Amino acid sequence: MAAKKLLILPGDGIGIETMAQVRRIIDWMASAKGITFEISEGLIGGAAIDAEGTPLPERTMELANAADAVLLGAVGGPKWDDLPFNIKPERGLLGIRKRMGLFANLRPAIVFDELADASTLKTELVAGLDILIIRELTGGLYFGEPRGIETLPDGSRRGFNTLVYTTEEIRRIGRVAFELARKRDRRVCSVDKANVLECTVLWREEMIKLRNEEFPDIDLSHMYVDNAAMQLVRNPKQFDVIVTENTFGDILSDCAAMLTGSLGMLPSASLGAPDAKGTRKALYEPVHGSAPDIAGRDIANPLATILSFAMCLRYSFNMDAEADRIEEATRAVLRGGLRTGDIMQPGKAKVSTSVMGESIIRELEKLG
Ligand code: IPM
Ligand code: MG
Repeated sequence: MAAKKLLILPGDGIGIETMAQVRRIIDWMASAKGITFEISEGLIGGAAIDAEGTPLPERTMELANAADAVLLGAVGGPKWDDLPFNIKPERGLLGIRKRMGLFANLRPAIVFDELADASTLKTELVAGLDILIIRELTGGLYFGEPRGIETLPDGSRRGFNTLVYTTEEIRRIGRVAFELARKRDRRVCSVDKANVLECTVLWREEMIKLRNEEFPDIDLSHMYVDNAAMQLVRNPKQFDVIVTENTFGDILSDCAAMLTGSLGMLPSASLGAPDAKGTRKALYEPVHGSAPDIAGRDIANPLATILSFAMCLRYSFNMDAEADRIEEATRAVLRGGLRTGDIMQPGKAKVSTSVMGESIIRELEKLG
């Protein structure tokens, strides 16, 4: 079998510490299981700015294009906040998503039974929650042209962005949502603002057309984004799959993440279009950011990055059994009462990033 090529981009802040725990799991898989990856490592975000003056060096793009999958930590931090907009760390992340064509961002919000009472919502509202937010990732308001800040004749300024989608962009993200819904409860809620924004009138029309043409077995509903935000905190279990515009998805996925008790638990996958062999370009990353306030102290929660690696095994390398084991090991560690600070609960044992990583490996060993 061909080598499994994995590019690791730790990035900044806690990305470095959480990715170190994934490296330990990878090392363990090699020594205990004989499962090996061809690993490369690259720079992105602030780390790349410091070393090469740009948040997305060409070398990183070359490595990404040569890899079967990319695993990313997090980017950004106060050190780079005052840089010009176009070379901020975040541009590295947005750039790699765009240049790899990763238009489909899968953000599952799953509540682990062990953490159901860590949510700020009532336990019964979130226990057993399992929703999947599919965020369009390379279009919409984030990338639409024209964009910018201009100075008007009277010296005042005007800032502008453009919300734009083509039929094809809507259909390809719709297809991902409907296909994934087929493996779940077959319900898709398409979120738009069709009462105000024409672009999302088109979004709604195309979703309906696609569903009628190719996915008659899927139950498609529609919701305005403001209502969706409200429904997510009112009764989140009403949803199965949510599909939505880039900016709406950015906001709703943070909201959904909090239902689960901690951003520190949530992985994500960003996928491109399938090639002739059905393989998709893919990047996996935790939903949380670089958390500069706690970086470098060995207290961050590594589970979102570890679970992102599990998603990578499942979706890019067809290693379902290994992915299952990592998820099972995560559950076992939580059942055993270990918690990092962000998910700490009364009566549990507070542990460091590295102890959490070690504990996952110990559970993997038990699972054999
Ligand atoms: C996310 C983040 C990014 C985004 C930032 C860091 C550019 O918030 O992945 O949700 O807005 O997409
Ligand atoms: Mg976000």
